[in-house]
Amino acid sequence: MLTMEKILRRAYPVLPVLVIDDVERAVGLAQALCAGGLNVIEVTLRTPQALEALQVIRQEVPDLIVGAGTIIREEQFTQAVEAGAQFAVSPGFTERLAQAATEMQLPYLPGVMTPPAVLAAVEHGYRSFKLFPANGEASVRMLNSFKGPFTGISFCPTGGVTRDNLLSYLSLPNVACCGGTWIAPASLVQAQAWDQITQLAREACAMARHLESLT
Ligand code: 3PG
Repeated sequence: MLTMEKILRRAYPVLPVLVIDDVERAVGLAQALCAGGLNVIEVTLRTPQALEALQVIRQEVPDLIVGAGTIIREEQFTQAVEAGAQFAVSPGFTERLAQAATEMQLPYLPGVMTPPAVLAAVEHGYRSFKLFPANGEASVRMLNSFKGPFTGISFCPTGGVTRDNLLSYLSLPNVACCGGTWIAPASLVQAQAWDQITQLAREACAMARHLESLT
């Protein structure tokens, strides 16, 4: 069974957060990230084209695990499942969203930012979270502090992660992977510069491998 923990492990080092406003570009983008060594992507439900894009990627790029992101309303879980999403991501945590995820039996990565939010979600059985927004060095320090009280909990910092601070997060033992849009910038997607996106993905994977070789 595909659990959120397994999906985050597969996503290491980077979970691309994609904003797709043209279905014609969806498959090229997904293939470019896959070619760069990434295994999991998140298609955010922020554009009218997102659900169709997700569906097409699932059909055409079967090697990828594809999730639906920016889930902020309960009914979006049903829409995501109907489009073929294999997991869902929210920028925050609410009981209603958690209940909807459970009803749809969809692996779910809720967002948290504070210890009370982590505790509330842990009470519902969650062990993996999107840390949103990730705020540079302050968030690196905060996640480092979370190690003690939140044993066995892992995070996917997102919303402020860049090539420059990626390794600061990945070097923390409670960070499973990092999310972000920088790996597929809108300008490159618009230009269909797939080779450059593959290169960004490859570079992130190489950076993570180098980090692992040091430990
Ligand atoms: C998200 O939806 O997770 C964030 O908006 C992505 O933020 P980023 O553009 O800073 O990566």
